[in-house]
Amino acid sequence: MIKTRITEMLGIKYPIISAPMGPFYTTELTIATSEAGGLGTLSHATLLKKNSIKDMKEQIEHVIEGTDKPFGVNVRTARVQTDHKILLRKIAEWRKKNPKIREQLVYGLTSAGGSRIASKLWKKSAPDMYHFHVAPALWLVDKVYDSGCDGVVATGTEGGGHQSYEGISTLVLVAQCAQKYPDKPLIACGGFATPEGVASGLAMGADAIAMGTRFIASNQSEFHPNYKALIPPATARDTILTTGGFGPIRLLKNKYCLEHGEVVSKEEKIVQESAYDLDGFLEDLHKYMIVYTDGDVVNGAIPVGQTVGLIDSLMDVDDIVTTFTKEAEKKLKNLVSKIS
Ligand SMILES: Cc1cc2nc3c(=O)[nH]c(=O)nc-3n(C[C@H](O)[C@H](O)[C@H](O)COP(=O)(O)O)c2cc1C
Repeated sequence: MIKTRITEMLGIKYPIISAPMGPFYTTELTIATSEAGGLGTLSHATLLKKNSIKDMKEQIEHVIEGTDKPFGVNVRTARVQTDHKILLRKIAEWRKKNPKIREQLVYGLTSAGGSRIASKLWKKSAPDMYHFHVAPALWLVDKVYDSGCDGVVATGTEGGGHQSYEGISTLVLVAQCAQKYPDKPLIACGGFATPEGVASGLAMGADAIAMGTRFIASNQSEFHPNYKALIPPATARDTILTTGGFGPIRLLKNKYCLEHGEVVSKEEKIVQESAYDLDGFLEDLHKYMIVYTDGDVVNGAIPVGQTVGLIDSLMDVDDIVTTFTKEAEKKLKNLVSKIS
């Protein structure tokens, strides 16, 4: 059994977390991951204010019906994600009102924007929920801790989906976090999709490993079969960073991706976004949703990480959580046995 600060604080059996993957739904994936003994994380699946609060409440209620185990929720705090402030408040409110939500919703993960507002709000209104924030570079990790968060999800550039302009690899970032903040709980993310990866993340000082792409390619995730089917044959060279709604985004190369444009600088992007109207957002969202709902893997956007090059089959979530941890444990023991 591997016990870490994260398994202890979140009350989970295995140090494996399914990463949030909005705008897609990861509700069933969350149930399956938590049931397997890891920690499932609900995605912030809506981009617009309309219905998004109701939508998240329904997701949370569905999860507590499906499992009695702990789980987490992601709120994207980007400027363009206009529902985030109300959602942060509502999550705290739902926890207060419903003891089952309070007991199980133990992990609030913010990302894609700042952590300060969430930290201030949740520390006051949901003090027993651990607040983590996604950080892609050490200077941003400093800001996360400065804002009062309990921990970080150190996510390197090889990961799938939204990335930062920083371009730092997981290998460097996790080591930097472990060196600078040895007393803080640390989740490593981006580039993990094997037991070897889990073992190496733990060896570097992480307390848990979060994975996205590996969980898309699982039998229990609710991603379209056409999406899942692209992952096993893809190689590590088949993804590129392109411009997305929140900054650079790592997508699988396809028609949409190749036509969609180069990553522009952060400054240019801010100018672009200020001219972006509701129709622009809807059009962007539509390109993601057609993959999810219709399996249109030609015209839609397919976020995945470089880990596609490591994944050669669909797996059961239970195996990803339990077998990966047990295999990682064996690899770590084997390494120790070589030390005289
Ligand atoms: C389809 C997809 C959607 C994602 N959406 C989000 C999101 O809404 N919020 C977020 O914080 N990260 C998001 N990410 C990033 C993941 O949470 C995670 O950092 C990434 O998948 C890790 O890399 P990996 O795919 O190599 O495991 C997304 C990733 C993917 C693949």
